Amino acid sequence: MPSPDLETIRLQLLERVQTSETPRDILRAPEFKGLYSAIGALSPEEKGPYGKAVNELKQAVETAVEARIDELESSDVVALDVTAPWDANSTKPAFLPTNEGSQHPLTTEITTVIDIFTRMGFEAVESRQIDDDFHMFGSLNFPENHPARDGYDTFRTEEGFIPPAHTSTMQNRILQAGKEKLEAGGQIAAISYGRVFRNEDVDATHEHTFHQVEGVFVSKDATLGDMLGTLRSFFEVYYGQSLRIKTQPAYFPFVEPGLEFMIEKPAVLGGKDGEWLEMLGCGMVHPNVLKAAGIDPTAYRGFAWGMGVERLVMLKYGIEDLRHFESAKLNFLRKFA
Ligand code: PHE
Repeated sequence: MPSPDLETIRLQLLERVQTSETPRDILRAPEFKGLYSAIGALSPEEKGPYGKAVNELKQAVETAVEARIDELESSDVVALDVTAPWDANSTKPAFLPTNEGSQHPLTTEITTVIDIFTRMGFEAVESRQIDDDFHMFGSLNFPENHPARDGYDTFRTEEGFIPPAHTSTMQNRILQAGKEKLEAGGQIAAISYGRVFRNEDVDATHEHTFHQVEGVFVSKDATLGDMLGTLRSFFEVYYGQSLRIKTQPAYFPFVEPGLEFMIEKPAVLGGKDGEWLEMLGCGMVHPNVLKAAGIDPTAYRGFAWGMGVERLVMLKYGIEDLRHFESAKLNFLRKFA
């Protein structure tokens, strides 16, 4: 009986190993096992050399199978980028599950505030972290050397720039940018949000760095009542319940009249009857502020407000010390994870 063509079988098996996803199966394939059963049909002289050749073939295939298994396993790790927040091996980036990281609570809450106002039709712009005297004061009807400037405890760079002490520093830009829309019969409705800075002593309710959200609305016929309704809606959505509000007079050079806006502390947040909390400053945009942006104050009216984000969030979660937010204390941050 002619001996099977071992060289052909060898080449076929090795080729199959190279392309197989399950190479171990080849060691159990009939063609492989059948090599030994052929031995019985051979003459005594043929048996020796044939057996030796089959053993060599078997060795070669087994070695190739092992190599193929290694190759398959290592190709699972295409590229391990430990800094990537998604699985680098998946074609569709999907965020990896994590028990460790979390967003800073102020980021989460500012996003919620922005969502509420954008749903009401306000556009949102981030406030600048460095600005000039004109935007921080001049365009907002603060006369030169007026004592009201001192009330803001502003830092100043050696060149005279200002890390803004309030998000009102964005008002003039918002008004200028919205002028055309206004003249075309539309309205200006925008909020600006971001960090503000004050050079004051730090304690449980004062920080040198905190956050504000400012609102500006201008139309042909905006009223104080529109403002109060807008603000009340905001607070009711943010705290998830109906709220009583009240105002009292306040002075800010850039509004007339100027008001302090208060809400009755919700019972679910530990409020007692008649406990009022000052939440923000607001008022009708001063005619000089409209003029500084090239808007005719006899044709248009507006309202504006500015509120501190930290105190909004402190009330929501019963946080007792403002300094926690910038403290980088992980125990504090993990409570919001
Ligand atoms: N900018 C004021 C502050 O930081 C708040 C404010 C904004 C008041 C807009 C009235 C109108 O104290």
